[in-house]
Amino acid sequence: MLAQLDTIQTEALAAIAGITDEASLEEVRIAFLGKKGSLTAAAAGMRDVPADQKKDVGQKLNEVREAITSALETTSADLTAKKDAAAFASIDPTLPSRPLPKGGLHPLSLVLDEAVKVLRRMGFALAEGPEIETEWHCFDALNTPADHPARNESDTFYFENGKLLRTHTSSVQIRTMEKEVPPVRIIAPGSAFRRDEIDATHLSAFHQLEGLYVDQRVTLADLKGTLEYFFREIFGSKTEFRFRPHFFPFTEPSFEVDIKLHAAGRPSKWIEIAGCGMVDPAVFSEVGRKRGDAAYDPDKVTGFAFGMGLDRLAMIMYGIPDLRLLIENDVRFLQQFRG
Ligand code: DAH
Repeated sequence: MLAQLDTIQTEALAAIAGITDEASLEEVRIAFLGKKGSLTAAAAGMRDVPADQKKDVGQKLNEVREAITSALETTSADLTAKKDAAAFASIDPTLPSRPLPKGGLHPLSLVLDEAVKVLRRMGFALAEGPEIETEWHCFDALNTPADHPARNESDTFYFENGKLLRTHTSSVQIRTMEKEVPPVRIIAPGSAFRRDEIDATHLSAFHQLEGLYVDQRVTLADLKGTLEYFFREIFGSKTEFRFRPHFFPFTEPSFEVDIKLHAAGRPSKWIEIAGCGMVDPAVFSEVGRKRGDAAYDPDKVTGFAFGMGLDRLAMIMYGIPDLRLLIENDVRFLQQFRG
């Protein structure tokens, strides 16, 4: 038995020594150590070994198994190392890597982040509402009567179920007042949609940032101070802007804010950037009617609201001459904003 085990070991090591690929190595393993392998068969013969020899034979059996296993492992590691070396032979790891172009934020995201940062510092919290809105939230609750031109089919995208793509983010004012009691101080950035002719300063899908502050004794001075501070923070203390009296159904009095745009190679001009005003008491009354409580009693609370065009804010911030550049995804344009 001991001699037989020696023979198996010699044969196995010889077989392993000549091997150059993994498949043959596996065949050898199976031939000796597999279920029907010769060493396995020899081990089964242990039963017939006389009791006084069992210890020696058992020990030998283990030695042989270990010798074969270790030879298999060494050869397998050698084969893997050779394969890796061959794979690397055609590669020069000292070559510099290919440049990975760095991405960047879209100018609109940059402006939005900046605007939100400034307004949050002033105590405004973020709010949101749906882009597909009811007529009530978008118009009726905002004191905008059925015959107002903004509600016309030719100005607004309506769905068959009577809902619409919100024409402004002012609907979030209503959504917020439905849920929360004063004091309310929120900003709501988001998309708005109109059937506008697309040109250098108009897109049919654009971005706005709405603001609403409702509390006791909020005044026009608060509104003006807030917006002046905001524009100076965003555009610098030398920015020229003006408040022009205007009309919006949901504010009284109302204003439009214009800012001087200095775009490279063009004469500077005023562009309208925001609407604002003191919340019309009719808006509070309608919210109160819907809520069924007196949280927004127009005799007790006042408020201001504003809505600005984020795309136009980006135009001014970066001197962009044409809004369409913001949606064309031309890398030559976008690359200029990589931080
Ligand atoms: N919603 C108006 C628009 O899209 C802008 C606006 C005007 C918002 C006055 C306001 C506001 O909150 O008080 O043209």
